[in-house]
This record gives sequence, structure tokens and C-alpha cells, in this order.
Amino acid sequence: MKHSLPKHVAVIGTGYVGLGTAGLLAHIGYQVTGIDIDPAKIAQLQRGEVPIHEPGLEGLLAGQEGRLTWTTSYAAVAEADVIFICVGTPPSPDGTPDLTYVTSATASLAPYLNGHAQIIVNKSTVPIGTGDYVQGLLEDHSPNFDETRHRVVSNPEFLREGTALSDSLYPDRLVMGGHPEAVDYLARLYAPLIEQTFVPPIGTPRPDSYTRPAVVKTTLQSAEMIKYAANAFLALKISFANEIAGLCERVGADVQEVSTGIGFDGRIGHRFLQAGLGWGGSCFGKDTQGLISAGREHNYAMPILQAAIDINYRQRHTVIDKLMRHLKSLKGKRITVLGMAFKPNTDDLRDAPAHDLIARLSQLGAVVTAHDPVAMPRAAREWTHLTYTPASDPASALARADAVIIATEWDEYVQLNWAELVGTMRRPLIIDARNILREALPAQVEQMGREAAQYIPEQVTE
Ligand code: UDX
Repeated sequence: MKHSLPKHVAVIGTGYVGLGTAGLLAHIGYQVTGIDIDPAKIAQLQRGEVPIHEPGLEGLLAGQEGRLTWTTSYAAVAEADVIFICVGTPPSPDGTPDLTYVTSATASLAPYLNGHAQIIVNKSTVPIGTGDYVQGLLEDHSPNFDETRHRVVSNPEFLREGTALSDSLYPDRLVMGGHPEAVDYLARLYAPLIEQTFVPPIGTPRPDSYTRPAVVKTTLQSAEMIKYAANAFLALKISFANEIAGLCERVGADVQEVSTGIGFDGRIGHRFLQAGLGWGGSCFGKDTQGLISAGREHNYAMPILQAAIDINYRQRHTVIDKLMRHLKSLKGKRITVLGMAFKPNTDDLRDAPAHDLIARLSQLGAVVTAHDPVAMPRAAREWTHLTYTPASDPASALARADAVIIATEWDEYVQLNWAELVGTMRRPLIIDARNILREALPAQVEQMGREAAQYIPEQVTE
């Protein structure tokens, strides 16, 4: 393997992970080429526009001057010391991740491998065993392939959408799995991140309490498994909180008090115990399914994960049940959905609970109005099969509504003057499906895991 310091990096794929990785590596001093087969995306990036909504990303990419270039040509791989594969791995209908893009990206980069040592890094979330699969593809498609010089390392990404930059610049840990020499070379690339010697970009300061990431060096398979197991465990925590929430409602307990109470046990912790509408997004649903199908291949059942998935999607029905309990029939009722993105600070609509809510509401005959602070343009393109009226602001969305469902925990919705807004509704019924409104309001507020009765002020009658 080569021992000189890495200088040039190629990043394949310009989604959340690829753009974040390219921006980060340019920021810590490398010459980065971002590659994508979509000419429209590359043209946008060359003009300085960012195709996704991620706080701070546009500024970070714009600040890299000559260190960051964009192209549709894989030829840039020939110059690179390290090549990152950051393409999408969407779920197939049977739950297994679809490796079409990983396969085509690998086959396209392979001819450009040069005679020197180069590390190929898998950042996409891929099934366990994909590292070996990629190595095999490189061997098949590259005239220069040499297994002692071209090695695949798994380096999973743990960033959350909405806080992607902070998660990437100040991570809890860096996981790198593969041949020890290749892993050490990648660790050298990450040295400024590991030592935290870089100057924080404007808008993404280093948190006061942060020191440096733990470095976890493993085998290829362990690194691949760490990504899945981490996401599965977080998904499990959310579903656990939601299962407890359902019982809390029935026995008169308050799940938020319960989560606070159990979270102080250091072995449990407070994070990812927020009960509500459950998870959405591109990772938790796909990765829990991915593990279950990996288990199935090995004739190994994973009932805990299956239960977590079932509980998560049950929450979406629970919201409709709450609505029905109050309104009896939804036919002709005006229902407002606040929040469409799967979580705040992103316009990502993948597996968003709001999608299923809108679909079910209109199926039941409701007249649906929806609002989101950033995801509405995207919804107009991607949710053309749904029937709803987009609202320009929360106030107009709420006017004359029979009920409102808060489907995404945007801070903007916490800050609304609810006492005033419920006065404009036909009925003051709020289904706070994200449990963000804690104060008593002149309205009926139904939460997830908290007995509703205690919220109904005396002056309000049905
Ligand atoms: C997740 C992982 O956190 C990240 O490490 C991984 O790399 C990718 O998947 P992301 O999907 O961006 O990141 O979102 P995250 O912030 O984890 O939230 C996932 C979903 O869970 C959201 O819909 C959120 O609203 C929901 N959630 C989160 C809860 O319902 N309760 C909680 O307590 C926490």
C-alpha cells in the first residue's frame, strides 16, 4: 500500500451523504471531485445551487473555492487516492436494499483505477457482505485491479438529516472496517477530523463539550453490521416509547413524564424516547427491514425488530383513530395536516407519516389541507397521487378546520399563537401527534401517550 499522504478524493453520488462528505473533505483540506450521473444535478451544483435542503450545506460548499469541483465523468477517479461510494440504496419491494446504484457506480469507476494504491470507501448503507461484492466487481471491471493495492473499506455514515453537517464534523465515532493497512490509510485522510485541528465552518461551530471522535477499526463485515445495528437499536427505542405510550393513555400515566423518569438511568438515556407518530425517513424503516431480510436468508428470525416496525406503523393508525373518536365520521370534515417532511429541518418526504395520514384521510372522505415550512414544493412534485390543498401558511391552513394534526415537530409550530388560532377553527381540536404542545390550551389537545381528558379546559364543550 502507498504510504504518502492522501490529497485527492473522489465522491460518487450527490445525495445527503455524498454532498456532506464532499463538503467536509474539501473543508478539511482535500482536493475533492464530486461525481454524479445526473447532469441536471451537476449543472445545479456547478452554478452554486444545492439540490437538497440541509442547513449550512450551501454555505459550506460555496466556501471551498478551488478545492471542490463537480462532474458527470468518472475519469476523475484516476486522480483520486480515496474514492467514496455514496450512492442511494433504496429498499426493494421485499425489504432487501437495492444495490443497482452501488453496482453501476462500481462498474463505472473500475476502469479508471490506476496502477497506484487507491482505497475505495463504501459510505452507502449496504447489506453485510457488500464490501466483498464491490471488491469482486472491481476485479471484474478494472484492467489495473490489484488486490494488494485496491482495497475496499466500509466507513458507514451516522449523520441525521437536518443536522448533517454538525454530525459529520463532530461525530461521536468514526467506524472504519477492512484490511488494516487500508483502514490506517483512511484514518490518515481523516486525521484533521480525528484530531479536530480544522477551523469550524461559519454556522457550524464546534460544540463546547465536544473533544474528538472515538475511532473504531474493525473488519469489513463488522463495520457494515455496526451501521445496521445502530439504526435498528434507535428505531427500537422509539417503538418502545410508543408502545409504552399506548398503555400510558389507558392507565392515566403521561409518557413524557415516564420517558424523563426512565432516561435518567444512564443505561437507558433520554434520547430517542420521544413518543409520537414514530419514525419516518430513509433509514430506520429500510435498515430494520434490511436486517430482517438478512436474518431470513440465514433462516434466523428477528422478532424484536419486526415488533418495532409493526408498532411504528400502528402509530399512524392511532392518529386516525383519535380523530374518529372525536369527529365520529370524517366525511366532508376539514382536516389540516401541519408538517409533511418526515422530521423538521429537512424537505425529505421519504416514508413521511404525513403521507399515509393524508392518503387515509382522503380515503375516509375528509377534505385535507396541508402545510410544511420547506417541503411543500417537493410534495407538489412527489405527492401528485395524493389529494390535498397546500396552504401558504399555518394560519390559513387552520382557518375553519374541524381538526388539525401536527405531523412534524417543526419549531415553527411550537411557536404559533395557538390560543388565537384555535379561535379561527370550526372546532378547537388539536391532535398533537408529535407531543410538542405542553401548555394547556383553549382547545381539546390529544397527545400520543397522555390521557386527553386532563387537557380539556372546562369552558370547552364538544
Ligand atoms: C437516522 C439516524 O439517526 C442516523 O444516525 C442515520 O445515519 C440515518 O438515520 P435520520 O433518518 O436523518 O437519521 O433522522 P433521525 O433524527 O434519526 O429521526 C428519525 C425519525 O424518528 C424522525 O421521523 C423523527 O421524528 C423520529 N423520532 C426520533 C421519534 O419519533 N422519536 C424520537 O425520540 C426520535
